[in-house]
Amino acid sequence: MNREHFELLSNALLTLDRSFEYLPEFKNAVPGAARLAGVLTATAERLRDNYPYFHPLYAGQMLKPPHPVAQLAYALGMTINPNNHALDGGRATSAMEKEAVAQIASMFGWTKFLGHLCGGGTMANLEALWVAGQSASGKIILASSQSHYTHERISKVVQLPFETIASDARGRIDLQLLEKRLKRHGVGTVVVTMGTTATGSVDPLPEILALRTKYNFRIHADAAYGGYFTLLENLEPDTQKAFAAIGEADSIAIDPHKHGLQPYGCGCILFKDPAVGRWYKHNSPYTYFTSTDLHLGEISLECSRPGAAAAALWATQKLLPLTKRGVFAQGLAQGREAARTLYDRLQADERFITPFAPELDIVIFALRAESVSATSLLSRKIFEAAASRDLHLALADLPLHLFQNLPSNMKRDREAITCLRSVLMKPAHFDWVDQIWERILASVADVQNSKPRFSSRGK
Ligand SMILES: Cc1ncc(COP(=O)(O)O)c(C=O)c1O
Repeated sequence: MNREHFELLSNALLTLDRSFEYLPEFKNAVPGAARLAGVLTATAERLRDNYPYFHPLYAGQMLKPPHPVAQLAYALGMTINPNNHALDGGRATSAMEKEAVAQIASMFGWTKFLGHLCGGGTMANLEALWVAGQSASGKIILASSQSHYTHERISKVVQLPFETIASDARGRIDLQLLEKRLKRHGVGTVVVTMGTTATGSVDPLPEILALRTKYNFRIHADAAYGGYFTLLENLEPDTQKAFAAIGEADSIAIDPHKHGLQPYGCGCILFKDPAVGRWYKHNSPYTYFTSTDLHLGEISLECSRPGAAAAALWATQKLLPLTKRGVFAQGLAQGREAARTLYDRLQADERFITPFAPELDIVIFALRAESVSATSLLSRKIFEAAASRDLHLALADLPLHLFQNLPSNMKRDREAITCLRSVLMKPAHFDWVDQIWERILASVADVQNSKPRFSSRGK
């Protein structure tokens, strides 16, 4: 947020304050007010110890700044501090949450559904697997070896057996192995990852749907990362088909705090069958008094939740609706285009190895060397050299079978290869891909000439 944004915020605050003018004058005493400025400066000093996530040269993990409208609406909402557990605690923001969640559901073609916001992707997946367990107690959860690591842990929490199915060479669940496992019965739910965390691979949903008609299981789409790519129209044909089928899943997890331009603390879980609401039924002797309308706490596992998060999401979707070819979708397409450009450059330079073209906006690469361990070491060195050039990448340990094109004379002395990973999820990455590429090349030269550099950034 910049100064101009703060001015907008203070104007909006005046509007909000005016709605409570009818109350007797009341000045809230702020304990410690005299030391506020000093403590705030100290907080800013502490916060300096961060990577520059907002900048396009931060091209490492899944991080992008929330849109200013989300930051402002969150701040505005926070002054009220509504609690979306019950209409008693967050009347306006509960309504905003219902509207914003309905817009997300309609992106997947759902008009009838049950859904709400939650803390994030892990919480959304937990609710999905918990409902799966309520509907089919004791049945097995299957997910690919490239699915998010929390599925196994969540299964333990909800006391369901969990098994992994190896991924294929594209990082997608291996269909043959999946069917082989399904034939042995006992499977309750298959987690279909619509954009894996490491490589952005999209599991083949249409084929898994065909298996469902044969073997009858629930499908949970973990679209925490990839869900918004449903809006794009120029994905690779099989990826496009997978997203076109997402509405056939029984439940969908999607994270507005990843690609939806929201601050952390904003996940979303959707169920196709509103009747699953019965599993949430409970008595709360202290809430749900002011209205017979649905209180969000009646259909969520968490109790207190920030209404400010709903205000932020609602405002963002009002400014940038979730429409195909809209500004929001164009931003996603720009990140994807940046990833494809970077991938093409890596491919054209024979010093690099890449596993496969990015399905979404995540690029994986490493340097050729005489062995997997030598390549892995080089990845770590490039990671550091790039950071000293203010380019922030990430690292990922990936199984060798994702690299079908490893040079035949490369010694396979490790089972996993440490690669560089770059999530190009900001629209600005599109304009910065040349700079990113130049810094990658310069970092490779640094490592090859063993010239340590020190960041231009003052600490
Ligand atoms: C596919 C996928 N699922 C689930 C999660 C967990 O989400 P969160 O970190 O919001 O809990 C992630 C996080 O990166 C993810 O990529």
